Amino acid sequence: MKIKVLGSSAGGGFPQWNCNCRNCAGARTGTLKATPRTQSSIAVSENTHDWLLVNASPDILAQIAANPELQPARRPRDSGIAAVLTIDAQIDHVTGLLMLRERDTPLPLYVTDPVWQDLSTGFPITSILSHYCGIERHRIDLDGKAITIAALPHVRIEALPLTSKAPPYSPHREAPERGDNIGLVFIDTASNKRAFYAPGLGAIEPHVYEAMSNADLILVDGTLWTDDEMIRLGLSKKTGADMGHLAQSGTGGMIEVLDSIDRPNVRKVLIHINNTNPILVEDSPERRVLTEHGIEVASDGMAFKL
Ligand code: MLT
Ligand code: MN
Ligand code: ZN
Repeated sequence: MKIKVLGSSAGGGFPQWNCNCRNCAGARTGTLKATPRTQSSIAVSENTHDWLLVNASPDILAQIAANPELQPARRPRDSGIAAVLTIDAQIDHVTGLLMLRERDTPLPLYVTDPVWQDLSTGFPITSILSHYCGIERHRIDLDGKAITIAALPHVRIEALPLTSKAPPYSPHREAPERGDNIGLVFIDTASNKRAFYAPGLGAIEPHVYEAMSNADLILVDGTLWTDDEMIRLGLSKKTGADMGHLAQSGTGGMIEVLDSIDRPNVRKVLIHINNTNPILVEDSPERRVLTEHGIEVASDGMAFKL
């Protein structure tokens, strides 16, 4: 199984178009040691020709261009993207669906019921796309049964309900429904290796901790270093908790959670990194702390073989 990071930043990207925070300004002018990143998405494959796109980022077209494996060119019109799964209905994870509309067959889309509901009401992408390629809907049930995707016959995918947040536009933003946000476990049935992926994770419930602890690769919420980071920078009124993201530093933070997992050869990688997060700066003290804890920071193009 191969996992490719297409976009490692949170919504807005890095640098964000309208942001002049220290990180964004420094990345733009080249005065900080920090690499630009596109918005949140990974792709999973077992043969490197057929891919499951996990989250359809607003940057999908640039991501396809940057990852030639996603364009195997077997026919006059072709794509390596065999199916799409989105872990929630957030703008940074679904807007790219609109960019895939030129397909000549309906787009296979794996989502939970609450996500389908948001994509049919608050942000009616499904009805818009019905005038283009259309969507072939696959329901993610959260009944414990693994999801199998025809293009990845030897990969088992388990979906876990999570505590995070439905999008700001969702009719149930403040009334959480089971399945608004999910985490995923990808199991390669040949190598028996597991990857855990949750770019939005607000609380570490026991079933989530168990899935994390059993993974050989943990790709987990790296949005914010401190919960009130965006407020202190004067950029937002929202804390990480308000947005469904557990910050890295401090008591009960993601570093502490990851520290308690000591599986041999496990890789711990933060993903969905907000542009304000000091860990984006490669020579920052915060980045050094992560390195000391054996935690990596995802970048676009990073690939894992499991
Ligand atoms: C989030 O991860 O909290 C959202 O993607 C934020 C956003 O929509 O900008
Ligand atoms: Mn996001
Ligand atoms: Zn910024």
